[in-house]
Amino acid sequence: MEFGRSLMQREFCLEETSTHLNNASGAVPKKVFDYQISVMEERERNPEHWYRYVVNDRYMNAVAKVAEFIGCCKENLVLVETTTSGINAVAKAMSWEAGDAILCTDHTYGANINLVQHVAKENKGLDVIQMHIPLPLEHEDEVIKAYADVIEKSHKIKLAIIDHISSASAIMFPVKKLVDLCREKGVMTLIDGAHCPGQVQLDLENLGADYYIGNLHKWMFCPRGCALLWIHPSHHDTTHPIITSASIFHTNLQQRFSQQATRDPIPYLTAPKAIEFCLSLGGLDAIVARNSKLVKWAASMLSEAWTSTCLPIPISMRAPFMILIGLPDTKVTRQYELEAKELKCPTLMKVIYEKHRVFTAISYFMGKLWCRVSVQVHNCQEDYYKLRDAILDVLKDEP
Ligand SMILES: Cc1ncc(COP(=O)(O)O)c(C=O)c1O
Repeated sequence: MEFGRSLMQREFCLEETSTHLNNASGAVPKKVFDYQISVMEERERNPEHWYRYVVNDRYMNAVAKVAEFIGCCKENLVLVETTTSGINAVAKAMSWEAGDAILCTDHTYGANINLVQHVAKENKGLDVIQMHIPLPLEHEDEVIKAYADVIEKSHKIKLAIIDHISSASAIMFPVKKLVDLCREKGVMTLIDGAHCPGQVQLDLENLGADYYIGNLHKWMFCPRGCALLWIHPSHHDTTHPIITSASIFHTNLQQRFSQQATRDPIPYLTAPKAIEFCLSLGGLDAIVARNSKLVKWAASMLSEAWTSTCLPIPISMRAPFMILIGLPDTKVTRQYELEAKELKCPTLMKVIYEKHRVFTAISYFMGKLWCRVSVQVHNCQEDYYKLRDAILDVLKDEP
């Protein structure tokens, strides 16, 4: 199967006048999109019948297909709208006592920090500990040690929210080792794998986590509003959706999550089509092999052109399809860095897009601005040359 520009033209809805180098909102193949529209039309022909007698079986079928694809027990899996709603469901369903703490890091996704701070506000005596991940990293064991030190110092940590792939820094955390450590120390684990389905081979039954959450609408070709939540059997009875609706007291986990009022469940129902699309490209292994090769090439080409370096982390901690590359060191870059330090939200991304129609993610940490380069199946080398030139143009010093 051919990847790159011809695949994009044939299979995706993406406009060719833009360069799509940030996959945070995903990209839906035409076949999946057309299927979504056809189910919307089907529902519209007889909404009463559809909501009462069709959707539940389809939801169960979608759960079973996703479970089969990622290789986990379907009994432990539910589909939720977003990673954020999955993490909300877990954090809000847990019972907290004064003296408990939630552990996250300075790489935890901003919305998750807000969430745990909000939960802490609602539960008097619950603390949030935001630990520092040391950078540069030479070996993943340095991260294990950092976690072990924090857990050793604070015996009250009840839950650790661990990134599988962090958002702004695209670091792939050694989750298996971290989960093992937490289990040994009596700390529950919630793994934020927002970026992982479709990018990383998951082994949820052997990971040993308490909860695992991941989006199907980022790298797994589903329309927005489709994420998976894996729940350890010991928590089935205590986990419920954030929306309290008719099925909240259902004793079966999937039924509890299946129907929540008259919301739009169609993104869930597209998951089998998205899996079909992934398999038509040769499956996850073929996609990982191709995208990882292109990301490696792009990182080397861009860091040379920008006289910069990649985020200093070991190869084992690099995300398969995403990498951070330092921006060229110019006076203009330093101006943007000053602004990013103040605003925490660099305007550079918008400037690059507005001037060159290249969409890429820019993040700021370690006192520097970084470009997070992403590779999805529709990208090709030409996209990264456009990114190279756009950045060089926007950041060039005026003579
Ligand atoms: C690490 C991480 N967690 C959570 C999220 C939130 O995902 P969603 O918007 O699907 O809730 C993101 C989104 O980019 C993310 O990168």
